[in-house]
Amino acid sequence: MRAAPSSIAIDGPAASGKSTVSRVLAKRCGYHFLDTGLMYRAFALAALRASVPATEEACARFVAEVELRIGEELEAHVYLGSEDVTNKLHNRELEAHVSSYARLAPVRQALIERQRAYAARWRAVLAGRDIGEVVLPDAPLKIYLDADENARARRRNSERGIGHQGEARQSQQALSRRDRLDAAQTYLASGAIVIDTSALTLEEVIERVLGLAACEG
Ligand code: DC
Repeated sequence: MRAAPSSIAIDGPAASGKSTVSRVLAKRCGYHFLDTGLMYRAFALAALRASVPATEEACARFVAEVELRIGEELEAHVYLGSEDVTNKLHNRELEAHVSSYARLAPVRQALIERQRAYAARWRAVLAGRDIGEVVLPDAPLKIYLDADENARARRRNSERGIGHQGEARQSQQALSRRDRLDAAQTYLASGAIVIDTSALTLEEVIERVLGLAACEG
């Protein structure tokens, strides 16, 4: 029997299904789950609230002082000071700005350190863009979830209850803009197993991923 891996890295573009798949996988394996996108979103929220511009100089200072904390829940919440901001991080306004903060080296460095400490502390699934390549290059299991842009836009619209055609078009444009801006931070890690989810149901993706993780489901 194969031993269950200590960390599982799940990477992929926006709306590839990585959060949903990671959540179910972590539950089934009894692992912690950290969606690292929440940390970049929380940093952007804090910076916008404090009117800190998306420049290396300003953000190097700000990231050292901002109290951005990962919670101890099985599915990690993210806190700014004592405020749980987890439910305030998924909206289009924040998404219009998050990439400009997430691409800054001092921000990445500080958040990556916390992600590594988290993975050292818990058996965990970490989801993001650079987990398998940069954050945890030694992760014993790396999965890259891909999906074509139409499939991802459809998923995002149904998650957000967007039915109106004009709004759906806007949402697809926002997704493709973010793809371009996040491309430099998104890696297909060496040793990663690629699953193209465009034509698969969530259950099919989960079945494959559970098979790869080999933990007792
Ligand atoms: O996966 P997401 O959409 O929640 O990510 C939010 C933003 O953070 C997105 O612009 C990409 C960025 N991100 C990143 O640069 N590296 C990660 N490991 C996770 C997210």
